[in-house]
Amino acid sequence: MTDSPQIVRPRILTTDRRKAMALGVAGLAATTLPQVAAARAEEATAPASASPRRTWLLDRGWRFHMGHAADMTKDFDWGINQRTYAKPGLVTSPAAVADFDESAWSHVSVPHDWAVDLPFAPPAAPAPEDKADAVAAHGFKAIGRAFPENSVGWYRLRLPVGGGDKGRAIWLEFDGVFRACKVFVNGFEAGGSESGYAPFKVDIADFLDYEGGPNQLALRVDASLGEGWFYEGAGIYRNVHLVSADAAHVPQWGTCVRSEIDAAGARVSLATTLANHSEGALAVTLRQSVRDDAGREVARAADRQVELAPLGRTETAQDTHIAAPQLWSPASPVLYTLITEVLRDGAVVDRTETPFGIRTVTFDAVKGFTINGQNVKLMGVCNHQDHAGVGTAIPDALHAWRVDRSIEMGVNSWRSAHNPAAQALLDICDRKGMMMIAETRLNTTNPEAMDELERMILSSRNHPSVILWSVGNEEGHQGSERGRRISAELVARCKALDPTRLTTQAMDTGWDGGAAEAVDVVGFNYRTDKIPAWHQRHPNKPVIGTETGSTVSTRGAYENDAARHIVKAYDTEHPWWASTAEEWWTIVANAPYIAGGFIWTGFDYRGEPTPYPAFPSVASYFGAMDSCGFAKDNYYYYRAWWRPDQPLVHLLPHWNWAGREGQPIPVWAHGNCEEIELLLNGKSLGRKAMPRNGHLEWQVPYAPGKLEARGYNGGRLAAQDTRVTAGAPAKLRVTADRKRYSAAIADAAMLRVEVLDKAGNLVPTADSALNFTVSGPGKIIGLGNGNPTSTEPDKGAARKAFNGLAQAIVQGTGQSSGAGGAVRVTVSGAGLASAAVDLSFYS
Ligand code: GAL
Repeated sequence: MTDSPQIVRPRILTTDRRKAMALGVAGLAATTLPQVAAARAEEATAPASASPRRTWLLDRGWRFHMGHAADMTKDFDWGINQRTYAKPGLVTSPAAVADFDESAWSHVSVPHDWAVDLPFAPPAAPAPEDKADAVAAHGFKAIGRAFPENSVGWYRLRLPVGGGDKGRAIWLEFDGVFRACKVFVNGFEAGGSESGYAPFKVDIADFLDYEGGPNQLALRVDASLGEGWFYEGAGIYRNVHLVSADAAHVPQWGTCVRSEIDAAGARVSLATTLANHSEGALAVTLRQSVRDDAGREVARAADRQVELAPLGRTETAQDTHIAAPQLWSPASPVLYTLITEVLRDGAVVDRTETPFGIRTVTFDAVKGFTINGQNVKLMGVCNHQDHAGVGTAIPDALHAWRVDRSIEMGVNSWRSAHNPAAQALLDICDRKGMMMIAETRLNTTNPEAMDELERMILSSRNHPSVILWSVGNEEGHQGSERGRRISAELVARCKALDPTRLTTQAMDTGWDGGAAEAVDVVGFNYRTDKIPAWHQRHPNKPVIGTETGSTVSTRGAYENDAARHIVKAYDTEHPWWASTAEEWWTIVANAPYIAGGFIWTGFDYRGEPTPYPAFPSVASYFGAMDSCGFAKDNYYYYRAWWRPDQPLVHLLPHWNWAGREGQPIPVWAHGNCEEIELLLNGKSLGRKAMPRNGHLEWQVPYAPGKLEARGYNGGRLAAQDTRVTAGAPAKLRVTADRKRYSAAIADAAMLRVEVLDKAGNLVPTADSALNFTVSGPGKIIGLGNGNPTSTEPDKGAARKAFNGLAQAIVQGTGQSSGAGGAVRVTVSGAGLASAAVDLSFYS
C-alpha cells in the first residue's frame, strides 16, 4: 500500500477558491481540494530547509487496530509494567515505535469513526440499567466502559518529515479526536487531549529523527468514557494536519483579526503571535496585508521589526484600514484574507493566510438580532455531528452538503450542540453565510474545562460565521448562585480572548437568576411560551430560543405505530418539554425582541433515541430532516415561513392508502401562498386562506388518484404540489448532488436513490432491498435510509430503501496518487429495473 498523506497549503488562496468554482466543486471546502496537486509539486521541487511552511493534510495511509481497555495484552502492552512513564522515550507499547509489524492492522483514512463500524447491539438481558442506557445513548453501539474490547483504538502513520526539516518547528494539529488520546512520536509521548471535541496541537520537532530514520506517529484513543448523552463516535474523526515551519514562525492560532467599521471604512486590528523554535535570538520582520475576494491587496500594515528571544514568543499589535469594505452577511458572505509573512534577512520564511469577514452583530433586548444594522431573525438549527453511513467521520464535502440542505430550508444559523464545531464546518459556514453559535462542552471551571473553552475560542475567533459563544447547556446548577459564578468565570474568559462577541447559555429552567445573570443573551431551551412573561420581568436582557420545537417524526410516515416505533410526520408529535414547530415559531415570529430560535434538530442523529428509548430505535426522531438529510414534512413548514418570498406549497400525506377507500384521511398543506386550493382527481375541495405562520387541514375521503394543492398569490397560481397514488415498485432512479468530484478524501458524492413505479412516481411506502456496485476508482463509504429503527450495517453494498428512499456516499479511491477517473454506481433490487449514475473524479 503506497498511500501517503497529502500536502496542502495552509489556507485558502482566493485564486484557489476561484479555481475550485471553475472546477465545479460546488459547495466544497476550497481550503483543501484544488491545492493538493499544486502543493505536491511544490513539495517535490522546493528544498525543505529554505521553503516557507509546508502543511500536510494527514488523511491517507493510516493503519488502525482495536486495542483493549481492560486487557493489556490486547492493548499492545500499554501500561504493562510500572515504568510506563519512568523514562520518556521508552514507551512500553511496541505499537508506538517504528519497528513494529503492522501488517495485521487495517488501512483507514481520516476522518475515521470506528464506532460506526460496530454492529448494532441490543442490550443482552439481563443488562444492568446503566449499561443499557449507555448503549442506547450511543445508538446501540456497544462502546463505553462496559465494552472494553470495543472502546480503545490504535492508529499508526509514518510521517513525511525528517531530513531537511532539522531546525524547523514541526507540529500536528488535531481538530478533534474522540477521545482521551495519547499521541506518540518515535516512542515519546508528545501530547494528547482528554476532550473529544476541542482542537489541539502537538509539538513533535524534539522527537523526530533527522538522520534519515523513519518517523513514526502512533495514537492510542480511548472512548471508554462519554462526554454526552448522544452518539459521539470514536477515533480520529476530524482532520489532522502536519506543519513544518521555519524556526521563526506564526504558531497555531497565532493571528487574530478584528475589525471595526468607521466613517472611512473599516479599521482592522491585528494581534499576531510570533514564535522562535531556535535556541538563538532571531531578528525578523512581520509583514501583513489584506486581500479581497478577488486576490487584490486592499490594505497593508506597516512592517514591524521583531526581536524573538531564544525559544520565545512575542505578541505584536498592528493596525490597518480598509476603505469601503464589503460586509459579511448571510446574504453576501464576503471574505477577506489576511496574509501574514515572517521575513529573515529579507526573505519570506513563513507565511499564513487567515480568512476573515467584516460585520457588526448586535443582540438587543428590544430589537432582537441585527447584522450590519439590519434586523434579521435567527432561523436556526441545532445539530450534532453525525450522518448516516459515516457516523462522525464527516468528509468536508458532507459538511458542505448538510449546510446547503439547511440553507435551502431557510436556515441562516446553526448551533453546534453541545461541543465546539469542526474547523471544516466553520470554514464552510464562513463561505456560505451560515451564522454559528459555538458551544463549549463543559460548563465548569476546572483547568480542563477552561482549557477546552480557550482552545475553542482561539481556533474559532477569526471566523465571521461565529456570532455567539455558548458556555453551557441545561446544566444542573444553571439556576443557582454556583451556576452564576461558574458561567461568570467562563464568560470572563470568553471576553478576555474575544471582546468582540457576546455570550449565551442554553437553559431549560432558572432564567430569573443563576447563569442567566452571567451571560449576555439568555437562552431558552423550549418553553418558548414562557419567554413573553420572562421578558416583562427582564425587559433589558436580550433573549434567544437556544432550543425550540423538538417535534418527533418518522420521514414519510403518517400514522403512529408504537409497536413499530413509527411516529407520524404531521406537526403534532413532541415530548412533554417541547412544542410543535408552528407553536414556537409563531411566538418568535411575532416578538421582535426575541432574536430567533434554533430548532432541535436540523438532522436526525444517532443515539438518544427519542421518543422510543429502546431497541431497535437507534436514533432520535427530532430532525426536520432524517439522518440522510431527506426532508421530513416539517422541513417544508420552516421552508415556507423562513423563505417567505419564495412561493411554496407542500402537501402531506402520501396518497397510497389502499383498503381505506372512502375513509377520511387528514390532509395538510404547508406553504406561504395567500390561498390554497385542494383538488382530488381534478375536483376542487375548496380554496382556503393560509394563516400566517400556520398550515391548512382538510379531511379527504380517500380515493386513489391525484391529490393536488394549488397556491395562489393575488389570485394567480404561484406554486403547486401533487401526491399521486403510486403503483408497485418497478424501477430505480439514482441521482448525484454533482457531476464532478475531487479524488481527495475531503470530497464525497451524495447519491439519492428512489424507488419508482412503472410510471416514474416515487413509491412512498417502498422498502425494497437494494444492492450497490461500483466500477472505477470509487467506493461507497456509507449507506443510509433515514429509518431510525434500521439496524442494517452502515457499511457494505446492501441497504433497504425506507419509504421510497436510500442514500449512498461515494468517495474516490485514487488514494495513493490522488488519481481520478470515471466511476459508475449501479443500484439494483429484485424485480426492479436497476439504475446507474456516472461520476467523474478528478485528481
Ligand atoms: C435538550 C438537550 C438536548 C436534547 C434535547 C431533546 O434537553 O439540551 O441535548 O437532549 O433536549 O429534546
